Amino acid sequence: KSTQHASLKQFRQVREEINQVYAQISAYIDECLEFFNSDCSANTPGAIGDAASVKVEEACFSRILTPAAVQSVTDFRAKVRGIREVISRNQMKCAFFGRTSNGKSTVINAMLGRKVLPSGIGHTTNCFLQVEGTSKESAYLQTPNSSEERPIESVSQLGSALSNEKLDCESLVRVFWPKQLCSLLREDVVLLDSPGVDVSPDLDTWIDQFCMDADVFILVCNSESTLMNTEKKFFHKVGSKLSKPNVFVLNNRWDCSDGELDSAELVRKQHMDKSVSFLADELKSCTRSEAESRVYFVSAKEALVNRLKETNQGLESPSPAGSLADGWQSRYFDFKNFEREFELILSDSAIRTKFAAHAEQGRHIAGQMFSILEAVYEGSVEEKDSAVRQRQALQRDLENLRVAASTERDIRQTLEGIERKVAGTLSEEIRRL
Ligand code: GTP
Ligand code: MG
Repeated sequence: KSTQHASLKQFRQVREEINQVYAQISAYIDECLEFFNSDCSANTPGAIGDAASVKVEEACFSRILTPAAVQSVTDFRAKVRGIREVISRNQMKCAFFGRTSNGKSTVINAMLGRKVLPSGIGHTTNCFLQVEGTSKESAYLQTPNSSEERPIESVSQLGSALSNEKLDCESLVRVFWPKQLCSLLREDVVLLDSPGVDVSPDLDTWIDQFCMDADVFILVCNSESTLMNTEKKFFHKVGSKLSKPNVFVLNNRWDCSDGELDSAELVRKQHMDKSVSFLADELKSCTRSEAESRVYFVSAKEALVNRLKETNQGLESPSPAGSLADGWQSRYFDFKNFEREFELILSDSAIRTKFAAHAEQGRHIAGQMFSILEAVYEGSVEEKDSAVRQRQALQRDLENLRVAASTERDIRQTLEGIERKVAGTLSEEIRRL
């Protein structure tokens, strides 16, 4: 179990690491601002009570630390706070699309290992449903235009809650499900269910509103038919707005092909060829060999039955064993392979798209901070040097004065000596006369 979702865990690790780096940058900025805002006169002994000297010190401080530098560092603090908040909220997002009744909601339920979203024949999902984890103990939903947390008791209650709402297909309902019940949600994965792409939607609005931050897209197809133009059209639009989107193709309802064993292999090959050429040649989202590992033949219904059995859910209801058609093992195997590859691509893409820009920004801020502090340091060294130069000049002047004074004293002494000699000679002369 410890290796469960191993690749998804990397996302959390990277998020933790980048958060730590930002915490360091943040502490560094706080320390700088504390230093910048500290009263410079308080650090200057002898300045107390001496207004003129405080003024000189302040002038010197503002020469070293310009208001522009202080403003930049203050701006960085706000920026870093914002980035840290975004980082801590970052999740990996996967969006599901496909025609009505292809099994999108069932695929999501199978991946979550429980019946979270309503599914059924006919047009079931009538708006966008985003499933995400909560640390709370019970599930709840949030409809657009309201922050109210409405408890969800069961999947059927969610279904009726949604059908009672007047929601158009462009609204988003957020379904919060306890993380403790779903390992996938524990790893900060968000799954976005959508109404069928054939519900004549405004695809541009869909993509702009819900897909720009998606890391992976899953096209849920019906393997009983073929890849439809409505489905292709949607992904062509996605491809025009997002460069190289990560798209998986799930040929769902593969259990229904079971009765026709002879043709199954042929159909599989046809679907595979079409899907690979769609992903690689048309969308140009990956290479042909990569595309081969992004196309799967599954039965979401059976995968869900298996998951429910594995976790002893729904044992009170009639045994779901009848829902597994012959050969279910290989379809379930393919479903698990899909999940493994999906998790790899999801975490890899999310790490790159969600954190690369933040890492770059962090590097930029650290660089800018370094330049500012380097300028402050150089300014203070310059001020110190000029103070030393001033002191040296003063000392030189003092020395010159001293020299001048001692010369004057020598001259005076000599003169006094001469005077004394002259006076002595004069009095000698007078006595003799
Ligand atoms: P909308 O929300 O209406 O767009 O449909 P959807 O794509 O979400 O399909 P949903 O998951 O509601 O499934 C439609 C019906 O197909 C349900 O009755 C599912 O039980 C059934 N179904 C889903 N996946 C499979 C599958 O792999 N095999 C079979 N036999 N039935 C499936
Ligand atoms: Mg649905």
